[in-house]
Amino acid sequence: MTSVSLVDPSASITADAVVVGILSGSNGPRLAPGAKVVDAALGKRLAVALKAAGATGKPDDVVKIPTLGLAPFALVVACGLGPDARQAEQVRRGVGAALRVLNDHRHVHVAIDAPVGAITEGALLGSYTFDTYKSSATKPALRRITVAAKASAGATAQLRRARVVADAVIAARDLVNTPPNDLYPETFAARAGDLAAAQQLAVEVLDPRALARGKFGGILAVGSGSTRLPRLVRITYRPPRPEARIALVGKGITFDSGGLNIKTANMAPMKSDMGGAAAVIASTVAAAALKLPVEIIATVPMAENMPSGSAYRPSDVLRMRSGQTVEVSDTDAEGRLVLADAIARALEDEPDYLIETSTLTGAQLIALGPRVIGAMGEPGLRDRVAAAGNAVGEAVWAMPLPEDLRAALDSPVADIASLTGERWSGMLVGGIFLADFMPEGLPWVHLDIAGPAWNMAGARDYTPKGGTGAAVRTIIAAAEDLAGR
Ligand code: BES
Ligand code: MN
Ligand code: ZN
Repeated sequence: MTSVSLVDPSASITADAVVVGILSGSNGPRLAPGAKVVDAALGKRLAVALKAAGATGKPDDVVKIPTLGLAPFALVVACGLGPDARQAEQVRRGVGAALRVLNDHRHVHVAIDAPVGAITEGALLGSYTFDTYKSSATKPALRRITVAAKASAGATAQLRRARVVADAVIAARDLVNTPPNDLYPETFAARAGDLAAAQQLAVEVLDPRALARGKFGGILAVGSGSTRLPRLVRITYRPPRPEARIALVGKGITFDSGGLNIKTANMAPMKSDMGGAAAVIASTVAAAALKLPVEIIATVPMAENMPSGSAYRPSDVLRMRSGQTVEVSDTDAEGRLVLADAIARALEDEPDYLIETSTLTGAQLIALGPRVIGAMGEPGLRDRVAAAGNAVGEAVWAMPLPEDLRAALDSPVADIASLTGERWSGMLVGGIFLADFMPEGLPWVHLDIAGPAWNMAGARDYTPKGGTGAAVRTIIAAAEDLAGR
């Protein structure tokens, strides 16, 4: 694991590579504050060298300058920060982009006078690699990151929080990236248990027999087509005097083939269909590590959606944990079925707030694209969670739940159908379906992360290809907000 620590900005630099910032301005690019020691070690030639190398200071700009034996460090990497080094997300992105190209250096020093939390998050998230399945020769060398900052109480607290947040995002990425032949309900539950155990959290795992006893008709139906049977995991974090009780629910489909309504395209990315589950597990562990004064109970349904002789069918009617009945319109709309059961269980704890997140609909990608999380639910909590997410660098946008859509889910045989007969407003229909399982008066929010959970494009800023850890930072920030932090 890579360590992060603060070093005094005036101390001489011992690292293998140094990161500096460049600001873009109307008078051309200039060195961001914090680069003085680096510039001095290079005879104050840094600005000239960066200009010659074509540095612009624009947000995705990364320029490498070898120091040719003139300084104790072999390499300077300058990253664009845009016009203002006090903008936390610009710092996160710039430092993340720099660290992405510095994995083969053992000790990297960041010499930018900017918020320590943003630097730390950007550095740890940018240097992330998933190498569990790669031969050892390719493992990254990076061991140590130092950040130039005076060791004040504020800087130390920021560093500590950023470390916990980054570890949670990384844990979620690792779970999403783990292939579905190794990560299936039983093993996913075990890994959730290991993460929770590191913070001494209580974990309960319901196996298929317990699910049958508990009448979890949605989870059992979705999981019935696979030889790897479903689980329901519950993780509880209970601090001494909690300000509120928060229920977290996350979709944990370890692979979504579509079931009998089998997918014909884009099946491989469906190992990311447990991104919501990964996010709530990691966020619960992070809340405990941060000792937030809120109680959190995560309820996580895990199932593999497969076609087989034992699979559930379109037109099946399921009796859910809540007692409601659902007509299965299409076995590929499986997420809402496992979620409805998990929500019913979560409500039995009488939470003050319920936050649910899931890779629920392809329609989220059509509406908001691959980077923006769609937030639906009770308007007060929806907007509060969206604001919390936006403030920590995740794009979250509030979407409506038009009441007239509920009629389109009327079923001739059951209380509700899982889909409407048309393809319009798919993301909102997902929210409308879930709303049927929420009690009157409960502040709840549904975060659709279908696109954001998985980066199918190339790596950028602090975001790698593949699993991103989407929603983790939003949920932690929302929990802090609800805790009054
Ligand atoms: N897991 C998918 C949603 C999804 C799509 C996630 C793309 C990530 C990227 C979900 O279970 C699903 O299959 N949804 C279908 C619903 C359809 C049958 C109405 C969809 O959105 O196409
Ligand atoms: Mn599906
Ligand atoms: Zn799915």
